[in-house]
Amino acid sequence: MDPPDVEKLISEKTKMGLIGRIKRLFKPEQKQTPNKTKEEIWAEKVQALRQRGAKIGDGTRLNCDIGDFGTEPYLVEVGEDCLFAADVKFITHDGGVKVLNTMGYFGGKKMDRIAPIKVGNNVYIGTGAFIMQGVTIGNNVIIGARAVVTHDIPDNVVAVGMPAKVLKTIDEYYQSGVDKGWYYPTAGLPFEEKKAYYQAVFQEGEQEQP
Ligand SMILES: CC(C)(COP(=O)(O)OP(=O)(O)OC[C@H]1O[C@@H](n2cnc3c(N)ncnc32)[C@H](O)[C@@H]1OP(=O)(O)O)[C@@H](O)C(=O)NCCC(=O)NCCS
Repeated sequence: MDPPDVEKLISEKTKMGLIGRIKRLFKPEQKQTPNKTKEEIWAEKVQALRQRGAKIGDGTRLNCDIGDFGTEPYLVEVGEDCLFAADVKFITHDGGVKVLNTMGYFGGKKMDRIAPIKVGNNVYIGTGAFIMQGVTIGNNVIIGARAVVTHDIPDNVVAVGMPAKVLKTIDEYYQSGVDKGWYYPTAGLPFEEKKAYYQAVFQEGEQEQP
């Protein structure tokens, strides 16, 4: 096999990078929301979802998109003070029923296969997690990144994995952060202040931990 033409590969990569950058520059959502605060964006998403029939409690913040609430947002109920990371998806219907419909399982009728989702208060859902139909998540719960939640999750636990299983209690989660020395008093600081703080902690080692 001939060796790869490195020059050509690099110039192709540069070209793709440039195209990507230009595309990102003209992405519609970036043009629409250049000066909005995080709070304004959260409020807009909650309002839009409520208009579509979803029940969203006060104080809940969404870093995932409205579209992540699926085709039946009115079947999703979320409590107060929740925080959902990017790419969290609520899946209230099972498209698999299409196979049954095509095979005539319902005597020529076309059916949907649907169940609602309920999330309690003070729930954090990590990035990329899927919450499947019929699931109820309790209060004070953490769902790990990329979890696929197929069964109910009780109050006061951390659940991870595919399918999601209880990993530990919230008390144990608290303690593991203490043991690892991962807590810092920076929540809510503006970007530049946080950056300066962590540069001091991790790059210069000057900042004392609390
Ligand atoms: C679930 C989570 C909260 C657990 O944190 P933790 O209590 O510190 O967990 P630990 O580091 O003690 O891990 C315990 C075990 O769970 C595993 N684990 C941790 N997170 C996991 C995850 N998301 N999926 C699968 N397994 C996970 C660890 O590998 C470890 O397994 P081991 O005992 O076999 O080594 C955290 O890992 C997580 O996923 N947070 C979400 C982060 C996120 O989405 N951030 C987005 C920006 S807001």
